[in-house]
Amino acid sequence: MTQGTLARRAILIGGSALLAASPLRALAQGAKTAIHVLKDPNCGCCSAWIEILENEGFTVTTEPIAGTQLMRYKSENGIPQEMISCHTARVEGYMIEGHVPIADIRRLLYKRPDSVGLAVPGMPYGSPGMGPESEREAYEVFLINRDGSVEVFARYAAA
Ligand code: CU
Ligand code: CU
Repeated sequence: MTQGTLARRAILIGGSALLAASPLRALAQGAKTAIHVLKDPNCGCCSAWIEILENEGFTVTTEPIAGTQLMRYKSENGIPQEMISCHTARVEGYMIEGHVPIADIRRLLYKRPDSVGLAVPGMPYGSPGMGPESEREAYEVFLINRDGSVEVFARYAAA
């Protein structure tokens, strides 16, 4: 009797330990997408964008990086000068530059083009993390091709 209970407990413990360590756990939680964000610690709008990602179910890790190093990281990872914004993120091998809307990140991950990633250059007012959408200025999301050229991926009209 005692032995049976012990054995059952051991199986339960073994089972939960296995679950915690395996990708099954991510599946059970709805397969959260991991995204890594490099940002200047003094930048506040980056945190606002990160909060939106978290609310949308992404698992976000952040890395503070000095401005000049961040600039080097961007260029080394294929982000053209004219596409630069504040923070730079990496998700499933793609670069995400600036305040890119979550819907566009999802569409990128769904379509999986052979590209560098997405960018919203500058910091358009009303883009995610940059103030209310109701006062949004018009902006575009660009797809960065491997040769450094860009094309419009999404267009947001002024509110
Ligand atoms: Cu910003
Ligand atoms: Cu930022």
